Amino acid sequence: MAVDIRNVAKKREQRYSYGLTLLRESIEKDRDLPTEDEIFKKVILKAEDITISFGGLNALSDVTLELREGELLAIIGPNGAGKTTLLNVISGFYRAQKGEVYFQDQKITHFSSHRIAAMGICRTFQNIALYTGLSVIDNIIAGRHPHINYNFLNGMLYFPWARREEARQRQIAEDIVDFLEMEQVRNTTVGMLSYGLRKRAELGRALALEPRILLLDEPMAGMNLDEKEDIARFIIDIHEFLRIPIVMIEHDMGVVMDIADRIVVLDFGVKIGDGLPEEIGKDPKVVSAYLGATGERVAWKIS
Ligand SMILES: Nc1ncnc2c1ncn2[C@@H]1O[C@H](COP(=O)(O)OP(=O)(O)OP(=O)(O)O)[C@@H](O)[C@H]1O
Ligand SMILES: [Mg+2]
Repeated sequence: MAVDIRNVAKKREQRYSYGLTLLRESIEKDRDLPTEDEIFKKVILKAEDITISFGGLNALSDVTLELREGELLAIIGPNGAGKTTLLNVISGFYRAQKGEVYFQDQKITHFSSHRIAAMGICRTFQNIALYTGLSVIDNIIAGRHPHINYNFLNGMLYFPWARREEARQRQIAEDIVDFLEMEQVRNTTVGMLSYGLRKRAELGRALALEPRILLLDEPMAGMNLDEKEDIARFIIDIHEFLRIPIVMIEHDMGVVMDIADRIVVLDFGVKIGDGLPEEIGKDPKVVSAYLGATGERVAWKIS
């Protein structure tokens, strides 16, 4: 069942305020949110001419991708098209044989994945990566670590101001738990949660890192319709309220068409489309990759 964006909108209306005010305050302390002039114009991330092969297989051939301020960019394409590989190259998990990656004009091609994450390029994984033995709230607090002043923490037992700092970090983590509507499972060990809730917790941890850019690899995979609508709602809220540019790999074409500002299409490691959703929907090359020879819609995801 495909997500109906009207249900997502209804759920958003039912629950205003967003929460996340503490997180936004913390983000704004470190940097300015993009101005209206920069939205959709200023390029913040660029992967240029990326080529990578495994054995004889070209996973990506000369793929270029640009992400602009405030943009929600979707990457679509059939299984094995190279979508996850592209995120892996951007986030420093794979080394491309050719091509460069730039973040805010700085070349980061050869930076380690840790360094890239510390710069604020944060991601979630197609296969969830969380501390399964820790609770939801502790996983999210773990995501706060780069923002905690360790000198303060060292003195935690002795100095009231250090304790205040710890309390503030906890409040921000609680703010994220509230936003993701995970209050009831805040103390549950992540390994005990349903798949959908684990994916939600992973989004929480990525948020806690105060991302400059969020890379989401199939955030709705394996979820039921209700859970998918919730995730769609959270992604829209994050994008709107925190102005974080997002790259999202997603197979649900309904969601992609409804919420993406722009869509990049990969097929067999080649970029075959890049444009607004309405352009992509009509692009003959995309349609022929997306539709079988008979014109019937073929499933993009074999799961
Ligand atoms: N570490 C690796 N070693 C060998 N081959 C790999 C590796 N990573 C990816 N590949 C291959 O590269 C191609 C692209 O894989 P990738 O995971 O990027 O596809 P995808 O578009 O994310 O697909 P899916 O929709 O199934 O997640 C596939 O043929 C895959 O088998
Ligand atoms: Mg993938």
